[in-house]
Amino acid sequence: MKQESTPQAPAKTATKTPAALECRSLSKAYSSTRVVLDRLDFTLKAGEFIAIMGDSGVGKSTLLNLIAGLDHADSGDVLIDGTQIANLDDDTSTRLRREKLGFVFQAFHVLPHLTLAQNVALPLLLNGQTPTRAHHMLAAVGLKDRGNDLPRQLSGGELQRVAIARALVHQPKLILADEPTGNLDPDTAHEVLALLREETKANGAATMMVTHSEAAAAVADRVLVLSNGKLHPLHATSAPALRQNHE
Ligand SMILES: Nc1ncnc2c1ncn2[C@@H]1O[C@H](COP(=O)(O)OP(=O)(O)OP(=O)(O)O)[C@@H](O)[C@H]1O
Ligand SMILES: [Mg+2]
Repeated sequence: MKQESTPQAPAKTATKTPAALECRSLSKAYSSTRVVLDRLDFTLKAGEFIAIMGDSGVGKSTLLNLIAGLDHADSGDVLIDGTQIANLDDDTSTRLRREKLGFVFQAFHVLPHLTLAQNVALPLLLNGQTPTRAHHMLAAVGLKDRGNDLPRQLSGGELQRVAIARALVHQPKLILADEPTGNLDPDTAHEVLALLREETKANGAATMMVTHSEAAAAVADRVLVLSNGKLHPLHATSAPALRQNHE
């Protein structure tokens, strides 16, 4: 019998998938005595979920803000999905951030005059997409029946969940989360982290989560500590409990 030829493995071509995020020699100082980031090099691959820890005031939020283009570095480069942000004109940079980035702010930044459903739908509307997934995301963070409420009717933890739903609704390729479980009880925190992890893996996205919580960091694929202006590996982690439940 004629033997079937085994299908060839796809040739390794030069078209390499770019890293979800690359920081090259990134530096930021607020004054000569307050050097926050010092020639920081860092790469985050698609599919990775990492946690960043470090003392208060060490520069974690500053790092996320620089990556998100909300603040400017003194020197160095940020590449998102292979695109160097500093080279883009304002319109292109805004579009790239709207499409590819999901940001959970430390202080939520939920818009007070919009309902929860409108807040969560905003990234979709800005990207010209239908707002259908907003309801799905509100349900995913346990706020299914609260879509018509205004932010002032919510607790801090509920607002944080709205912020998380909004950051994930447009299935961004890079998720930046600044203490996303800071206001949540342990059970809700666990659910929200599982959702973040699920969305990251399901969408081939990458997540960089700043946290002071060791329990939250344990969900990450790896943990890095920011100190003296650079990121240092803590140790490889596994998340057996979450993996059992959600993968
Ligand atoms: N606009 C600014 N002008 C001057 N200094 C600033 C500014 N923004 C931040 N800093 C300082 O830079 C340092 C890093 O701040 P950052 O908010 O990044 O810290 P953090 O690691 O996120 O802290 P926390 O864990 O408390 O949120 C702090 O010393 C802060 O006071
Ligand atoms: Mg901070």
